[in-house]
Amino acid sequence: MSRHDLPEGMIRAPGIAGPHEGYMPGFGNDFETEALPGALPQGMNSPQKCAYGLYGEQLSGTAFTAPSHQNERTWCYRIRPSVKHSARYERIEMRYWQSAPNVDPTVTSLGQYRWDPVPHTEEALTWVSGMRTMTTAGDVYTQVGMASHVYLVTRSMQDEYFYSADSELLVVPQEGKLRFCTELGVIDIAPQEIAILPRGLVYRVELLEGPARGFVCENYGQKFDLPGRGPIGANCMANRRDFKSPVAAFEDRDAPSTVTIKWQGQFHVTYIDHSPLDVVAWHGNYAPVKYDLRTYCPVGSILFDHPDPSIFTVLTAPSGVEGTANIDFVLFRERWMVMEDTFRPPWYHKNVMSELMGNIYGEYDAKPNGFTPGGMSLHNMMLPHGPDNEAFEKATFAELEPSKLDNTMSFMFETRFPQHLTAFAAKEAPLQDDYIDCWDSLKKRFDGTPEGNWDK
Ligand code: FE2
Repeated sequence: MSRHDLPEGMIRAPGIAGPHEGYMPGFGNDFETEALPGALPQGMNSPQKCAYGLYGEQLSGTAFTAPSHQNERTWCYRIRPSVKHSARYERIEMRYWQSAPNVDPTVTSLGQYRWDPVPHTEEALTWVSGMRTMTTAGDVYTQVGMASHVYLVTRSMQDEYFYSADSELLVVPQEGKLRFCTELGVIDIAPQEIAILPRGLVYRVELLEGPARGFVCENYGQKFDLPGRGPIGANCMANRRDFKSPVAAFEDRDAPSTVTIKWQGQFHVTYIDHSPLDVVAWHGNYAPVKYDLRTYCPVGSILFDHPDPSIFTVLTAPSGVEGTANIDFVLFRERWMVMEDTFRPPWYHKNVMSELMGNIYGEYDAKPNGFTPGGMSLHNMMLPHGPDNEAFEKATFAELEPSKLDNTMSFMFETRFPQHLTAFAAKEAPLQDDYIDCWDSLKKRFDGTPEGNWDK
């Protein structure tokens, strides 16, 4: 935060000084924060008259009756209640932001797909108009499944606000820096960080350094949570203290403004005459959060064999079927490879889950070429994939010393649902038409002898 001044007129709660300035550490904590002293009621939620003439309002992220360990809500003390931040709703078209089900009969989704980075254009694009849906899965109407998007942002939202009633958004920047000015405070993120914007939270997005490009996983279902570590124990992978929620910040600004709402896949706009970012104080556990991927501590094999990629899960959104995620967010980052007598890259695979990958920077070990930073790939439900011939031969004939995979950060949005390509992904985005050829030169090495034919 220190490198970028707050928006003019915004008043922020004093936070912890130092590297966490402006944020409160913890995942799913019950936070409390106030931008004006005494704005937060103590010992109760609904005083007859709130301090400073504020309105009390609850934002419920789970059903009232959700089990207590999953129950999420936040109490907001604000200049105007949210009903004053909406007027008549006017339907608008958002051609490139699609929702499931989105099955275009002219588009095939059965296959292995890979895209070069979606390029920037001259067009001025905001967080909302620059969202490009690549795949959709499940069903937004019944709140299961997800969509994957690429965002291209070249301008800040000015007196323009947005919220998604359909979903929480997991944001994975790849290029440029963004600021999310939300009802509950300000989050700045850059590549190698991620942010989660909860369902129903109003915000505007400012471009701090552009152009900005990145990936979004739109989660229609149950919220992202940290995975259970099982026998790994209480530490490593993603640690709760490394997640940060913003301290309260508000603005009391009168200006003609719009709020765009995504609701059941439709977009509506409403016109108001002030900023909706007017929450002076809040307490609760339903809040936006950011996380630095460099603090992710990978755990892996230290003698032989290659574990399942689930070992690298950062966040998981459950589906209701135990152990079968609506979405897993999985990170492939720098790590040491030490396994003996082992084929070290990812093994060949067919999966009931569908795997959408993106490259944040560097080189991915199973695909040294063609999967570039900003690029994506999709290995859909039960469609085979694995290392290309170059990666296979390199790993098969390598002298196995401890070696470090350096300069690499890719991720996967893995869902239990098949993913459908949008028309944009199939026809406008830079889809590689030769991706399937990367396995062409894999040789038959079976020759009937136990030794096999390992000629290069
Ligand atoms: Fe796979």
